[in-house]
Amino acid sequence: MPPVPWKARQRKQEEAEPRRESLATLLDPTGGASEDYRTLRTSLLYSLVDEPPKAIVITSPGPGEGKSTTCANLGVVLAQAGKRTLVVDCDLRKPRMHQLFGLRNLQGLVNVLVGERSSEEVARGGAVRDLEVVTSGSLPPNPSELLGSQRFSEFLEGARQEFDYVLLDAPPVELVSDPIILCGQADGALLVFDARNTRKGSLKQSVHNLQAVGTNVLGTVMNSASSSKGGYYYDGYAYG
Ligand SMILES: Nc1ncnc2c1ncn2[C@@H]1O[C@H](COP(=O)(O)OP(=O)(O)OP(=O)(O)O)[C@@H](O)[C@H]1O
Ligand SMILES: [Mg+2]
Repeated sequence: MPPVPWKARQRKQEEAEPRRESLATLLDPTGGASEDYRTLRTSLLYSLVDEPPKAIVITSPGPGEGKSTTCANLGVVLAQAGKRTLVVDCDLRKPRMHQLFGLRNLQGLVNVLVGERSSEEVARGGAVRDLEVVTSGSLPPNPSELLGSQRFSEFLEGARQEFDYVLLDAPPVELVSDPIILCGQADGALLVFDARNTRKGSLKQSVHNLQAVGTNVLGTVMNSASSSKGGYYYDGYAYG
């Protein structure tokens, strides 16, 4: 076989680079969706003034309701406000942060949890000053076990000391126990739901399941892809 010309090889390499998906807060900082994320940020910054939440799980009742999108955009606006923020992809079943931030996912949280890498080695810059991202790393066979491990507690403890906010992107509450496991170690949870698709009963049940294990449900985020503002609404700390 003739050797592949250098230029073609370079192009192939470039194609292999992950493409950053459009994060509203980066793409259109003055748009309606960005404004909604800033409202969410304000609610968070002024919540629980005596004991502000630092490590926050972002979850939702079911799949595809906008958890990861919310988590990434919230990370961006917190960092834009000068808060040192770490976004961690704790969805070790269907990770998405590497795509949203256009990062390779060769190493990440899983490598820390199996003792191969340090947190510092896997944390990467997330497009905005004061924002760092830890992607998932390769998918493990035992996500729940890893998230409930001593190493995860140590990882989170280190992150708490280093950052003002640590956002943990989680899988759906109704499908797996991972979000419950994460909430056991975090300071609270934001529950995202899709205004068009999430059933009221599912939302209530998820709040109940989270609170049953002592989770501080900080609030709900209504994500409505079809709204005229095209964005997100935060309905306050109704469950706080
Ligand atoms: N407000 C929105 N407007 C338009 N598209 C949206 C919005 N929120 C989410 N999406 C799109 O919906 C899809 C699912 O979003 P996302 O990955 O954030 O959901 P998720 O709850 O994290 O899903 P999963 O359960 O698979 O982890 C993505 O294609 C995303 O781009
Ligand atoms: Mg997700």
